[in-house]
Amino acid sequence: MKAEKLNIRRAHITDIGEIYETIRENPTEVLPRSYQDILRNFDRFTVYDDGGIKGVISYQVMPVFDIENPDFAVEIVSFSVRRAEQGKGIGRALLLHMIEVVKAMEPHRIIVLTFYPQFFAKFGFVETSKEKLFQKIYQGCLNCTKYRSPLTCPEVAMELLVH
Ligand SMILES: CC(C)(COP(=O)(O)OP(=O)(O)OC[C@H]1O[C@@H](n2cnc3c(N)ncnc32)[C@H](O)[C@@H]1OP(=O)(O)O)[C@@H](O)C(=O)NCCC(=O)NCCS
Repeated sequence: MKAEKLNIRRAHITDIGEIYETIRENPTEVLPRSYQDILRNFDRFTVYDDGGIKGVISYQVMPVFDIENPDFAVEIVSFSVRRAEQGKGIGRALLLHMIEVVKAMEPHRIIVLTFYPQFFAKFGFVETSKEKLFQKIYQGCLNCTKYRSPLTCPEVAMELLVH
């Protein structure tokens, strides 16, 4: 099977259960999210659906500290392909779609923290230093229970400059 662009669509409110399960299939790489959290943010999700949801992807907008000189960044989050469906092009289709969705928002950059920098490099992301991602550290890493320090966690920070 080769992933079809046609199977990419915005999430429906009825997808929450499947989104929840798809995220939980990759707990090492993807932060599990509660059912209620996904429900409140379901309209930020895109899914790959070919008769069942095989992959999901979402985004969050980073806070801005310097309002006079804002650095608008959008982070790719909750990007997960079901284990049995990996390697079939579903991740590629989801990420390419989400890059277009986020680019249309006209942020300065799209960021991601990942264990698989080589995958994201295929789509133009380049490695950046975590020190440059203060918004992310402020928003997410402070509450991380997996690693003691965001600067020593094994995930690689990457960015795709938009303009
Ligand atoms: C990483 C992930 C999203 C990739 O999705 P996928 O559907 O398996 O990937 P695709 O089949 O679309 O692969 C597209 C290309 O990336 C390559 N690729 C896939 N996984 C890769 C990885 N882990 N590292 C490097 N390259 C990878 C493929 O070989 C393919 O290359 P090609 O186009 O040259 O043939 C998926 O494996 C996954 O859900 N992993 C666990 C959760 C995770 O890490 N999510 C990302 C959090 S930031």
